[in-house]
Amino acid sequence: MAQLSSIVILTGAGVSAESGVQTFRGPDGLWEGHRVEDVATPEAFARDPVLVQNFYNMRRQALSSVNPNAAHEALARLEREFQGDFLLVTQNVDDLHERGGSSNLIHMHGELKRVRCEACGAVMAWEIDLFQETPCPKCTATSALRPHIVWFGEMPFAMHSIEAALASCDLFVSLGTSGNVYPAAGFVNLARNYGRAHTIELNLEPSLGASQFHECRHGPATEIVPAFVEEILEAQ
Ligand code: APR
Repeated sequence: MAQLSSIVILTGAGVSAESGVQTFRGPDGLWEGHRVEDVATPEAFARDPVLVQNFYNMRRQALSSVNPNAAHEALARLEREFQGDFLLVTQNVDDLHERGGSSNLIHMHGELKRVRCEACGAVMAWEIDLFQETPCPKCTATSALRPHIVWFGEMPFAMHSIEAALASCDLFVSLGTSGNVYPAAGFVNLARNYGRAHTIELNLEPSLGASQFHECRHGPATEIVPAFVEEILEAQ
């Protein structure tokens, strides 16, 4: 691989699949037994806040029984050892990248381990179950705390920083994402056509947008990511 000065990596549910976190678009089309519209939209939260809070309580609790895998660890190694700029952007709401050792990352769809108060706007680290009656630790309002998660119909976080990094990187990698959800599915186009990046897809199988990448490597993340990281670090 040519000498690189700036890398952006986008990850999706596939990077955490071998850790035991279910991907969103499994063969049954359900996410942990629910239709996404019933648990991951502002309308669902307005209609049935108890169902939605419980759903995210279960997802948060489930984090304690999974661990980062070799793909998360390889990406953390890349962040530590790559000599240029490196940004990891994840659509995942789990904390496996952090636990795998990554620190410079953006959770564009939010985080299970954060909540937000809709009354005072505070965003807080959160480890335990959340209920409608839980008062906001900052302003004491009740029925005001919600998961700090970007639901369908809401704007992803940090888009300006992400777009700036995409426009100036020379390698963009999309890892473990099916390419169904925008704006993330459009990052390859931004990096390739507005920037000057070489683009690579790493995924179990060709994603919806596979034809937009210069290169695709298909296989399980725990195999293809460590090999890819090794290749980049050897070339620098
Ligand atoms: N290694 C690599 N890729 C894998 C593996 C694996 N072991 N297992 C599955 N994959 C791939 C699948 O082939 C699929 O293309 O990961 C992709 C996961 O796709 P999705 O389930 O659609 O997840 P993602 O693309 O992250 O979803 C995007 O949609 O529901 C919303 O907000 C949610 O962030 C999520 C967004």
